[in-house]
Amino acid sequence: DWNSANVIEEQVERIRTQVGSSRVIAGLSGGVDSAVAAALVHKAVGDQLTCVFVDHGLLRADERKQVEEDYVASTGVRLVTVDAREQFLDALADVSDPEQKRKIIGREFIRTFESAAEALVLEARASDGDAEVKFLVQGTLYPDVVESGGGSGTANIKSHHNVGGLPDDMTFELVEPLRTLFKDEVRAVGRELGLPEVIVGRQPFPGPGLGIRIVGEVTAERLEILRAADAIARAELTAAGLDDEIWQCPVVLLADVRSVGVQGDGRTYGHPIVLRPVSSEDAMTADWTRLPYDVLAKISNRITNEVRDVNRVVLDVTSKPPGTIEWE
Ligand code: XMP
Repeated sequence: DWNSANVIEEQVERIRTQVGSSRVIAGLSGGVDSAVAAALVHKAVGDQLTCVFVDHGLLRADERKQVEEDYVASTGVRLVTVDAREQFLDALADVSDPEQKRKIIGREFIRTFESAAEALVLEARASDGDAEVKFLVQGTLYPDVVESGGGSGTANIKSHHNVGGLPDDMTFELVEPLRTLFKDEVRAVGRELGLPEVIVGRQPFPGPGLGIRIVGEVTAERLEILRAADAIARAELTAAGLDDEIWQCPVVLLADVRSVGVQGDGRTYGHPIVLRPVSSEDAMTADWTRLPYDVLAKISNRITNEVRDVNRVVLDVTSKPPGTIEWE
Protein backbone atom coordinates (compact mmCIF):
# COMPACT_ATOMS: atom_id res chain seq x y z
CA ASP A 1 0.00 0.00 0.00
CA TRP A 2 1.32 3.41 -1.00
CA ASN A 3 1.84 5.76 1.89
CA SER A 4 3.94 8.88 1.99
CA ALA A 5 5.43 8.19 5.42
CA ASN A 6 6.81 4.86 4.13
CA VAL A 7 8.21 6.49 1.02
CA ILE A 8 10.00 9.06 3.16
CA GLU A 9 11.47 6.43 5.47
CA GLU A 10 12.63 4.31 2.56
CA GLN A 11 14.16 7.21 0.64
CA VAL A 12 15.93 8.62 3.68
CA GLU A 13 17.59 5.23 4.18
CA ARG A 14 18.62 5.01 0.52
CA ILE A 15 19.99 8.55 0.45
CA ARG A 16 22.09 7.93 3.58
CA THR A 17 23.56 4.78 2.05
CA GLN A 18 24.31 6.50 -1.25
CA VAL A 19 25.77 9.72 0.11
CA GLY A 20 27.74 8.51 3.13
CA SER A 21 29.68 11.44 4.57
CA SER A 22 30.02 13.39 1.32
CA ARG A 23 28.46 16.74 0.61
CA VAL A 24 25.51 17.32 -1.66
CA ILE A 25 24.25 20.24 -3.74
CA ALA A 26 20.63 20.84 -4.74
CA GLY A 27 19.23 23.53 -6.99
CA LEU A 28 15.89 24.99 -5.92
CA SER A 29 13.64 26.46 -8.58
CA GLY A 30 10.71 27.44 -6.40
CA GLY A 31 8.78 24.51 -7.85
CA VAL A 32 7.49 21.41 -6.10
CA ASP A 33 9.89 18.75 -7.43
CA SER A 34 13.17 20.40 -6.49
CA ALA A 35 11.71 21.47 -3.14
CA VAL A 36 10.57 17.97 -2.17
CA ALA A 37 13.74 16.28 -3.46
CA ALA A 38 15.95 18.64 -1.46
CA ALA A 39 13.79 18.29 1.66
CA LEU A 40 14.16 14.50 1.52
CA VAL A 41 17.92 14.78 1.17
CA HIS A 42 18.04 17.24 4.03
CA LYS A 43 16.05 14.90 6.22
CA ALA A 44 18.55 12.18 5.39
CA VAL A 45 21.89 13.98 5.66
CA GLY A 46 21.16 17.38 7.22
CA ASP A 47 23.79 20.03 6.66
CA GLN A 48 25.83 17.88 4.30
CA LEU A 49 23.34 19.41 1.85
CA THR A 50 23.56 22.94 0.52
CA CYS A 51 20.72 24.31 -1.59
CA VAL A 52 21.33 26.87 -4.30
CA PHE A 53 18.58 29.18 -5.49
CA VAL A 54 19.20 31.37 -8.53
CA ASP A 55 17.06 34.49 -8.61
CA HIS A 56 17.05 35.25 -12.34
CA GLY A 57 14.53 38.06 -11.95
CA LEU A 58 11.94 36.16 -14.02
CA LEU A 59 10.09 34.84 -10.99
CA ARG A 60 6.59 35.75 -9.95
CA ALA A 61 5.74 37.96 -7.00
CA ASP A 62 6.84 36.48 -3.65
CA GLU A 63 8.48 33.36 -5.07
CA ARG A 64 11.93 34.24 -3.80
CA LYS A 65 10.53 35.00 -0.37
CA GLN A 66 8.65 31.68 -0.34
CA VAL A 67 11.93 29.84 -0.85
CA GLU A 68 14.16 32.00 1.35
CA GLU A 69 11.74 32.32 4.24
CA ASP A 70 8.94 29.75 4.18
CA TYR A 71 10.87 26.81 2.74
CA VAL A 72 13.94 27.43 4.86
CA ALA A 73 11.81 27.82 7.99
CA SER A 74 9.98 24.55 7.39
CA THR A 75 13.04 22.47 6.45
CA GLY A 76 16.05 24.12 8.07
CA VAL A 77 18.13 23.71 4.90
CA ARG A 78 21.30 25.67 4.35
CA LEU A 79 20.50 27.97 1.42
CA VAL A 80 22.67 30.06 -0.85
CA THR A 81 20.73 32.56 -2.97
CA VAL A 82 22.45 33.99 -6.01
CA ASP A 83 21.02 37.33 -7.10
CA ALA A 84 21.53 37.20 -10.86
CA ARG A 85 18.76 39.58 -11.88
CA GLU A 86 20.96 42.12 -13.60
CA GLN A 87 23.01 39.49 -15.37
CA PHE A 88 19.86 37.97 -16.90
CA LEU A 89 18.41 41.33 -17.91
CA ASP A 90 21.67 42.30 -19.58
CA ALA A 91 21.81 39.01 -21.45
CA LEU A 92 18.20 39.39 -22.59
CA ALA A 93 18.52 42.98 -23.80
CA ASP A 94 17.17 43.50 -27.33
CA VAL A 95 15.99 39.88 -27.62
CA SER A 96 12.39 39.20 -28.70
CA ASP A 97 12.59 35.77 -30.29
CA PRO A 98 11.14 33.10 -27.95
CA GLU A 99 13.67 30.35 -28.67
CA GLN A 100 16.50 32.83 -28.40
CA LYS A 101 15.18 33.86 -24.99
CA ARG A 102 15.02 30.22 -23.87
CA LYS A 103 18.59 29.63 -25.01
CA ILE A 104 19.91 32.70 -23.23
CA ILE A 105 18.03 31.99 -20.01
CA GLY A 106 19.19 28.35 -20.02
CA ARG A 107 22.80 29.35 -20.67
CA GLU A 108 22.89 32.05 -17.99
CA PHE A 109 21.20 29.72 -15.52
CA ILE A 110 23.85 27.05 -15.99
CA ARG A 111 26.68 29.57 -15.75
CA THR A 112 25.29 30.93 -12.53
CA PHE A 113 24.52 27.59 -10.93
CA GLU A 114 27.90 26.28 -12.01
CA SER A 115 29.86 29.07 -10.35
CA ALA A 116 27.83 28.67 -7.18
CA ALA A 117 28.54 24.92 -7.24
CA GLU A 118 32.21 25.53 -7.94
CA ALA A 119 32.44 27.86 -4.95
CA LEU A 120 30.89 25.16 -2.75
CA VAL A 121 33.28 22.53 -4.07
CA LEU A 122 36.28 24.76 -3.33
CA GLU A 123 34.94 25.67 0.09
CA ALA A 124 34.52 21.98 0.95
CA ARG A 125 38.04 21.16 -0.25
CA ALA A 126 39.50 24.00 1.79
CA SER A 127 37.66 22.93 4.93
CA ASP A 128 39.00 19.33 5.01
CA GLY A 129 39.40 15.91 3.46
CA ASP A 130 36.20 13.93 3.44
CA ALA A 131 34.01 16.99 2.93
CA GLU A 132 34.18 16.46 -0.84
CA VAL A 133 31.06 17.55 -2.78
CA LYS A 134 30.18 14.47 -4.81
CA PHE A 135 26.44 14.59 -5.31
CA LEU A 136 23.84 16.65 -7.10
CA VAL A 137 20.14 16.30 -6.26
CA GLN A 138 17.73 16.02 -9.14
CA GLY A 139 13.94 16.10 -8.89
CA THR A 140 13.46 13.48 -11.60
CA LEU A 141 9.98 11.93 -11.47
CA TYR A 142 8.87 8.50 -12.64
CA PRO A 143 7.36 9.76 -15.92
CA ASP A 144 10.72 11.43 -16.76
CA VAL A 145 12.52 8.15 -16.07
CA VAL A 146 10.19 6.25 -18.37
CA GLU A 147 10.44 8.89 -21.08
CA SER A 148 14.22 8.95 -21.09
CA GLY A 149 14.65 5.15 -21.09
CA GLY A 150 15.45 4.68 -17.43
CA GLY A 151 19.14 5.63 -17.27
CA SER A 152 20.66 7.21 -14.18
CA GLY A 153 24.09 7.76 -12.75
CA THR A 154 26.49 10.62 -13.03
CA ALA A 155 26.08 13.97 -14.70
CA ASN A 156 27.61 17.34 -14.71
CA ILE A 157 25.41 20.36 -14.48
CA LYS A 158 25.74 21.22 -18.14
CA SER A 159 24.92 17.83 -19.56
CA HIS A 160 21.87 17.69 -17.37
CA HIS A 161 20.76 20.93 -18.95
CA ASN A 162 21.77 19.59 -22.38
CA VAL A 163 24.51 22.09 -23.02
CA GLY A 164 27.87 20.34 -23.30
CA GLY A 165 30.93 19.52 -21.20
CA LEU A 166 32.02 20.95 -17.92
CA PRO A 167 35.50 20.52 -16.44
CA ASP A 168 36.02 16.86 -15.50
CA ASP A 169 36.40 17.57 -11.82
CA MET A 170 32.87 19.01 -11.74
CA THR A 171 31.09 15.73 -12.39
CA PHE A 172 28.52 14.79 -9.80
CA GLU A 173 26.76 11.59 -8.97
CA LEU A 174 23.00 12.10 -9.03
CA VAL A 175 20.70 11.69 -6.06
CA GLU A 176 17.17 11.24 -7.38
CA PRO A 177 14.79 10.48 -4.51
CA LEU A 178 11.62 11.04 -6.59
CA ARG A 179 12.43 8.54 -9.36
CA THR A 180 9.60 6.18 -8.44
CA LEU A 181 6.95 8.84 -7.86
CA PHE A 182 4.20 10.53 -9.83
CA LYS A 183 3.47 14.22 -9.39
CA ASP A 184 0.54 13.82 -6.97
CA GLU A 185 2.68 11.45 -4.86
CA VAL A 186 5.46 14.05 -4.77
CA ARG A 187 2.95 16.57 -3.45
CA ALA A 188 1.77 14.10 -0.79
CA VAL A 189 5.37 13.51 0.31
CA GLY A 190 5.95 17.28 0.42
CA ARG A 191 2.89 17.79 2.61
CA GLU A 192 3.95 14.96 4.91
CA LEU A 193 7.34 16.68 5.24
CA GLY A 194 5.54 19.88 6.25
CA LEU A 195 6.57 22.01 3.28
CA PRO A 196 4.69 25.26 2.61
CA GLU A 197 1.44 24.78 0.69
CA VAL A 198 2.37 27.63 -1.72
CA ILE A 199 5.23 25.45 -2.94
CA VAL A 200 3.71 21.98 -2.62
CA GLY A 201 0.47 23.01 -4.35
CA ARG A 202 2.12 25.11 -7.04
CA GLN A 203 0.83 24.79 -10.57
CA PRO A 204 3.35 24.22 -13.37
CA PHE A 205 5.52 27.22 -14.16
CA PRO A 206 8.07 27.18 -16.99
CA GLY A 207 11.80 27.30 -16.24
CA PRO A 208 12.30 30.47 -18.33
CA GLY A 209 9.63 32.05 -16.15
CA LEU A 210 8.12 35.41 -16.97
CA GLY A 211 10.76 35.80 -19.69
CA ILE A 212 8.56 33.87 -22.10
CA ARG A 213 5.37 35.62 -20.97
CA ILE A 214 6.42 39.03 -22.24
CA VAL A 215 5.80 39.09 -25.96
CA GLY A 216 8.63 41.38 -26.99
CA GLU A 217 11.85 42.38 -25.25
CA VAL A 218 12.19 41.59 -21.55
CA THR A 219 12.90 44.69 -19.46
CA ALA A 220 12.80 45.39 -15.73
CA GLU A 221 9.81 47.69 -16.16
CA ARG A 222 7.81 45.16 -18.19
CA LEU A 223 8.59 42.44 -15.66
CA GLU A 224 7.23 44.64 -12.93
CA ILE A 225 3.99 45.21 -14.86
CA LEU A 226 3.54 41.52 -15.62
CA ARG A 227 4.38 40.46 -12.08
CA ALA A 228 1.70 42.79 -10.70
CA ALA A 229 -0.95 41.57 -13.16
CA ASP A 230 -0.05 37.93 -12.56
CA ALA A 231 -0.29 38.34 -8.79
CA ILE A 232 -3.80 39.78 -9.12
CA ALA A 233 -4.99 37.01 -11.45
CA ARG A 234 -3.58 34.29 -9.21
CA ALA A 235 -5.02 35.81 -6.05
CA GLU A 236 -8.51 36.11 -7.56
CA LEU A 237 -8.48 32.60 -9.04
CA THR A 238 -7.44 31.18 -5.69
CA ALA A 239 -10.02 33.26 -3.82
CA ALA A 240 -12.71 31.96 -6.17
CA GLY A 241 -11.68 28.38 -5.34
CA LEU A 242 -10.69 27.61 -8.92
CA ASP A 243 -7.17 26.26 -8.38
CA ASP A 244 -8.19 22.63 -8.74
CA GLU A 245 -10.08 23.26 -11.95
CA ILE A 246 -7.19 25.06 -13.59
CA TRP A 247 -4.03 23.28 -14.70
CA GLN A 248 -2.24 26.61 -14.96
CA CYS A 249 -3.06 30.15 -16.00
CA PRO A 250 -0.29 31.95 -17.82
CA VAL A 251 -0.69 35.72 -17.66
CA VAL A 252 0.95 37.31 -20.68
CA LEU A 253 2.01 40.89 -21.41
CA LEU A 254 1.76 41.95 -25.04
CA ALA A 255 4.54 44.45 -24.65
CA ASP A 256 4.82 45.32 -28.32
CA VAL A 257 1.09 45.94 -28.72
CA ARG A 258 -0.67 49.13 -27.66
CA SER A 259 -4.31 50.01 -27.75
CA VAL A 260 -6.29 53.10 -26.95
CA GLY A 261 -8.20 53.34 -23.73
CA VAL A 262 -9.89 55.85 -21.51
CA GLN A 263 -8.97 55.84 -17.86
CA GLY A 264 -9.48 58.47 -15.23
CA ASP A 265 -9.21 61.86 -16.88
CA GLY A 266 -8.30 60.90 -20.35
CA ARG A 267 -7.01 58.84 -23.18
CA THR A 268 -4.44 56.15 -22.55
CA TYR A 269 -2.30 54.19 -24.93
CA GLY A 270 -1.34 51.09 -22.99
CA HIS A 271 -0.67 47.39 -23.25
CA PRO A 272 -3.02 44.40 -23.18
CA ILE A 273 -2.71 41.58 -20.66
CA VAL A 274 -3.81 38.13 -21.81
CA LEU A 275 -5.32 35.56 -19.43
CA ARG A 276 -4.67 32.00 -20.54
CA PRO A 277 -6.44 29.66 -18.10
CA VAL A 278 -6.25 26.03 -19.23
CA SER A 279 -7.55 22.70 -18.04
CA SER A 280 -5.39 19.68 -18.80
CA GLU A 281 -4.27 16.25 -17.62
CA ASP A 282 -0.65 16.36 -18.74
CA ALA A 283 -0.06 19.61 -20.70
CA MET A 284 0.16 17.67 -23.96
CA THR A 285 -3.37 18.74 -24.83
CA ALA A 286 -5.44 21.35 -23.07
CA ASP A 287 -8.75 23.15 -23.24
CA TRP A 288 -9.40 26.73 -22.21
CA THR A 289 -11.10 26.83 -18.83
CA ARG A 290 -14.63 28.24 -18.78
CA LEU A 291 -14.09 30.69 -15.96
CA PRO A 292 -17.14 32.32 -14.37
CA TYR A 293 -17.82 35.78 -15.83
CA ASP A 294 -17.81 37.45 -12.44
CA VAL A 295 -14.31 36.16 -11.71
CA LEU A 296 -13.11 37.40 -15.10
CA ALA A 297 -14.74 40.76 -14.46
CA LYS A 298 -13.04 41.10 -11.10
CA ILE A 299 -9.62 40.22 -12.50
CA SER A 300 -10.08 42.63 -15.40
CA ASN A 301 -11.22 45.49 -13.17
CA ARG A 302 -8.43 45.02 -10.71
CA ILE A 303 -5.68 44.71 -13.31
CA THR A 304 -6.76 47.78 -15.29
CA ASN A 305 -7.20 49.79 -12.09
CA GLU A 306 -4.11 48.69 -10.25
CA VAL A 307 -1.47 48.00 -12.87
CA ARG A 308 0.11 50.97 -14.55
CA ASP A 309 0.29 50.94 -18.37
CA VAL A 310 -2.29 48.18 -18.75
CA ASN A 311 -5.63 49.35 -20.18
CA ARG A 312 -7.09 46.13 -21.55
CA VAL A 313 -7.48 42.50 -20.40
CA VAL A 314 -8.24 39.81 -22.98
CA LEU A 315 -9.11 36.13 -22.60
CA ASP A 316 -7.45 33.42 -24.69
CA VAL A 317 -10.14 30.93 -25.80
CA THR A 318 -7.90 28.61 -27.81
CA SER A 319 -7.46 24.93 -27.01
CA LYS A 320 -4.15 23.05 -27.39
CA PRO A 321 -3.76 22.13 -30.17
CA PRO A 322 -3.71 24.40 -32.08
CA GLY A 323 -2.45 26.89 -29.49
CA THR A 324 0.33 25.97 -27.07
CA ILE A 325 -0.30 26.74 -23.40
CA GLU A 326 2.40 29.41 -23.32
CA TRP A 327 2.40 32.21 -25.85
CA GLU A 328 6.08 31.78 -26.61
P1 XMP B 1 3.30 24.53 -24.12
O1 XMP B 1 3.41 26.03 -24.17
O2 XMP B 1 4.34 23.85 -24.94
O3 XMP B 1 3.59 24.15 -22.60
O4 XMP B 1 1.92 24.03 -24.43
C1 XMP B 1 3.44 22.86 -22.07
C2 XMP B 1 3.89 22.89 -20.62
O5 XMP B 1 5.29 23.12 -20.54
C3 XMP B 1 5.57 24.35 -19.88
N1 XMP B 1 6.67 24.98 -20.63
C4 XMP B 1 7.94 24.98 -20.23
N2 XMP B 1 8.54 24.48 -19.13
N3 XMP B 1 10.62 25.28 -19.90
C5 XMP B 1 9.86 24.66 -18.96
O6 XMP B 1 10.42 24.23 -17.94
C6 XMP B 1 10.10 25.80 -21.04
O7 XMP B 1 10.82 26.36 -21.87
C7 XMP B 1 8.69 25.63 -21.20
N4 XMP B 1 7.83 26.01 -22.20
C8 XMP B 1 6.60 25.59 -21.81
C9 XMP B 1 4.29 25.13 -19.91
O8 XMP B 1 4.21 26.06 -18.83
C10 XMP B 1 3.26 24.04 -19.83
O9 XMP B 1 3.08 23.60 -18.50
